[in-house]
Amino acid sequence: MNKEIYSVSSAWAELEERVRNCRACKLCETRTNTVFGQGNRDNQVVLIGEGPGEDEDLQGLPFVGRAGQLLTQILEAGKISREDLFIMNIVKCRPPENRVPTTEEMVKCNQHLDSQLALLRPKIVVCLGNTPMKWLLQTTEGITKIRGKWFDWRGAKLMPMFHPSYLLRNQSRAEGSPKHQTWLDVQELKKAIENI
Ligand code: URA
Ligand code: URA
Repeated sequence: MNKEIYSVSSAWAELEERVRNCRACKLCETRTNTVFGQGNRDNQVVLIGEGPGEDEDLQGLPFVGRAGQLLTQILEAGKISREDLFIMNIVKCRPPENRVPTTEEMVKCNQHLDSQLALLRPKIVVCLGNTPMKWLLQTTEGITKIRGKWFDWRGAKLMPMFHPSYLLRNQSRAEGSPKHQTWLDVQELKKAIENI
């Protein structure tokens, strides 16, 4: 009889396959590609967005559109390479018109998110914007109030930051502006990564 030998890489492959074939919610009917997530699976630093946009849906990769390019720049300004993080979303399929995912969609997709988190065993989690922040922290607080703060979350340090789409709509770099606050948050993140 064949003995099945558990390995992390086969667990990842199985999970990727499960996401690729997922039909748990209606988003599967309108997606082009699922967006599993991308990046370093060993560093225990995870960034979580809301859901794929148009470019992500077309390419099957997270944060590759305009917001994603800004995210890459913001991280690089803080001397963080996006390849050093694992980047993923709460839902793996694009909500039509880029609407916020429904609670039902997030509940259905949470099996994938939880499996990813179990394999990644993050020490640092960054939530981008209100949707992942509210989903993971189960809070009714708004992002403007609690961004840049560290929370204990399942044994990891979790920090909410503004979503890069929000920063695209708020371009000021003046002190106290969302961009300025994000610059401060990225420096906090860099420090936390160095102290893992
Ligand atoms: N916005 C998100 O929340 N996630 C992406 O992958 C792209 C844009
Ligand atoms: N609302 C969001 O959903 N995200 C932000 O970053 C700011 C406002």
